[in-house]
Amino acid sequence: MKNFVIAIDGPAGAGKSTVAKIVAEKLGFLYVDTGAMYRALTLKAMKKNIDFRNKEKLIKMVENTDMKLYQDTKYRVILDGEDVSEEIRKEEVSKNTHYIASILEIREILWKMQRNFRETCKIVMEGRDIGSKVFPDAQLKIYLDASVEERAKRRYLQLKEKGEAADIEEIKKEVIERDKKDKNRKIAPLVKLPDAIYLDTTNLTIEEVVEKIINLYHQKLNSSG
Ligand code: DC
Repeated sequence: MKNFVIAIDGPAGAGKSTVAKIVAEKLGFLYVDTGAMYRALTLKAMKKNIDFRNKEKLIKMVENTDMKLYQDTKYRVILDGEDVSEEIRKEEVSKNTHYIASILEIREILWKMQRNFRETCKIVMEGRDIGSKVFPDAQLKIYLDASVEERAKRRYLQLKEKGEAADIEEIKKEVIERDKKDKNRKIAPLVKLPDAIYLDTTNLTIEEVVEKIINLYHQKLNSSG
């Protein structure tokens, strides 16, 4: 029997990370943030000044990268021995991840790493292609969504809380732009799968979403006997 996987996909700002972390904690599963992996590789390419149009060089870079995800007091990403957990959240990194995310050879390397987590643990994994590419046989697939307005508002409040300047209309434009890139890329685009459960979180609290997912997990367990 393969370890249980809860695959959570959806657009940026739908609340995947927040919800997935809590669900994993409550169930005692490992939480895996695959976006962090794409971000870490993007950061490395930026630091090394690699031209994002140079696919060959990017692939070589990834082949020569050591990346670890682990959890102590917080979730950490260690890139070639350095903790980059904070740095990968920067706006410049978000803007450039689509280059890395659209290269098949790089995705294949990451898919392999991502699939390895299931060998030893039950997992909650979030991203864009978890149900479609990483674990098409995941026991529970969730597509987490929210309206563009709501996702922009959440991002706006996050920035405000950090004391950073934020313009809601500007953020909305960025959200729309990121959706386009995630949904329209040729390789592993974000899709709503027929076997995924669609959850619109626009009018739900984090606790309500967590509860729904945990109930779905128990239903799946009971139905598979
Ligand atoms: O979830 P996030 O915003 O941290 O993801 C960062 C970027 O990585 C985002 O632009 C989409 C991409 N990504 C992806 O292509 N596939 C995944 N499984 C996760 C993220």
